Amino acid sequence: MEASDVAGDLENILLTEDQLGARLDEIAAQIDRDYAGKDLLLVGVLKGAVMVMADLARRLHSHVEMDWMAVSSYGSGTKSSGVVRILKDLDADLTGRNVLIVEDIIDSGLTLSWLLSNLRSRGPASVEIAAMLRKPDAAKTEVDVRYVGFDIPNEFVVGYGLDYAEKYRNLPFVGTLAPHVYSS
Ligand code: IMP
Ligand code: MG
Repeated sequence: MEASDVAGDLENILLTEDQLGARLDEIAAQIDRDYAGKDLLLVGVLKGAVMVMADLARRLHSHVEMDWMAVSSYGSGTKSSGVVRILKDLDADLTGRNVLIVEDIIDSGLTLSWLLSNLRSRGPASVEIAAMLRKPDAAKTEVDVRYVGFDIPNEFVVGYGLDYAEKYRNLPFVGTLAPHVYSS
């Protein structure tokens, strides 16, 4: 899907496919250095992190294991409730593993801080976070994030895995929606 396919719905393109890719090159190089000689388990948070997981993992030069978790933190609206439910748990046993949580976006931070303490209680060697996007002005709790793609303004964004009502995930860039999309 490209911008012209949903042209009337978009207000602004915040981050282009090239910008996202260039930043992932840098983050992947950093992860390669930080985890050199160690085993690494990437934990993607469904569904939003699918794109960043695929693009990040393919840039890494060592073997990684990939596992997935699905949690729900949102109702039907666009605000985090802080109530987190596991919809799909990991297949992997985390005992002694170096875990890197791969996330699409940190908004309030409530989902990730919950996930962090949940995974840390499973006896891993380490748990760190890589997030493609972060909204510093939306933070309701401090989360220690090791790798961040971009800090963005406190606006609702779609694309590159992020949805509005399950749509727009397959846009290759990150953009904001025109107001009429929310009100219709
Ligand atoms: P948090 O708990 O508020 O940090 O955000 C939890 C989840 O809400 C994220 O992992 C996203 O899946 C989703 N989310 C937060 N902000 C946005 C946005 O701007 N667009 C689309 N999804 C979002
Ligand atoms: Mg998410």
